[in-house]
Amino acid sequence: MLVEATAPGKMILYGEHSVVYRGPAVVLAIDRRANVYAKKRTDKKIFIDADNLGFSGYFEDNVYHAVRGNAWRGRNLAALNVSAKKTMEYLGVEGGVNLKVRSMIPIAVGLGSSAAICVATVSAVEKLHEGGLKKEEISNVAFEGETIIHGKPSGVDNNVSTFGGVMSYERDVGFKHHKLTKEIPFIIGNTRKKRSTKRMVENVAALKERNPAIMDNFIDAMGNVAREGLDALLKIDLSRMGDLMDLNHGLLSGIGVSTMKLEILCHTARKNGALGAKLTGAGGGGCMIALSEEVYMSDIERAIRRRKSDAYRVSLTDQGVKSRWIEDDEIADS
Ligand code: PMV
Repeated sequence: MLVEATAPGKMILYGEHSVVYRGPAVVLAIDRRANVYAKKRTDKKIFIDADNLGFSGYFEDNVYHAVRGNAWRGRNLAALNVSAKKTMEYLGVEGGVNLKVRSMIPIAVGLGSSAAICVATVSAVEKLHEGGLKKEEISNVAFEGETIIHGKPSGVDNNVSTFGGVMSYERDVGFKHHKLTKEIPFIIGNTRKKRSTKRMVENVAALKERNPAIMDNFIDAMGNVAREGLDALLKIDLSRMGDLMDLNHGLLSGIGVSTMKLEILCHTARKNGALGAKLTGAGGGGCMIALSEEVYMSDIERAIRRRKSDAYRVSLTDQGVKSRWIEDDEIADS
């Protein structure tokens, strides 16, 4: 028997970057998930098979040994090693584990892939040891794994991946869960350009250092957009949501985190009928999102694909992290 844990990715609807300073950010769990399968080992190795991401290897005494793919991939996998180790430490148990990662969330493009994988890892390992952890504890332990990748993340990714649904986060207020009264589908356009959240956050910090007063205005404006955006989202006011997405994108461009490709995709989406479009996540590549009435959605997706980018239609999900025992041959290979 082994444990299967699954956790969703996310998209930031409003408030990335400004949330690092004040916030709020509005974050939505999406129906693209990461699965982690865990099985106990008799030694103390943390073996990670992420073959569908192109690498696998194991950690022994925190040193990475590549089995497939480059040794530097160990940096990405270190987050899983830490997540597994911290979970066992938290539970006061010891041992090794085989982790198999099967993720439908593209990596390093702002869709919360690393958080989902960390959350699913913690959940799988804690179930393996019958830990009975609460969701909040899972999220907190996963945050330590995420820190390996992102340096100093705000914590929104691991929270939304653990709990699912719609969340807002503001530094002085904390996390709040919100309920939507209606489904809202979005289109995600993926430029396929990977980027580092840490580097983008550092670039914004450097710009702020050089232009403190002006950057304060940008951050306040983004905070106001996010507050109004949350209100529009909860009222399912799509046209106001769209305006606020456009405004948010303009401000993000202003602080230098957009790229030519992201600009092209946002303009393409709007030209093809989107009510609003913006980059999502740290920028510098990665993804944009578009909001549209159903009738224009296929046109927008096609237009994004014509710009040599991926387009996915995503639904929001209330399903946060889940785990269960399965038979060895039940692994869904993708
Ligand atoms: O990792 P991403 O691309 O989803 O971006 C995270 C959002 C930031 O606000 C830029 C950073 C953070 O920790 O909130």
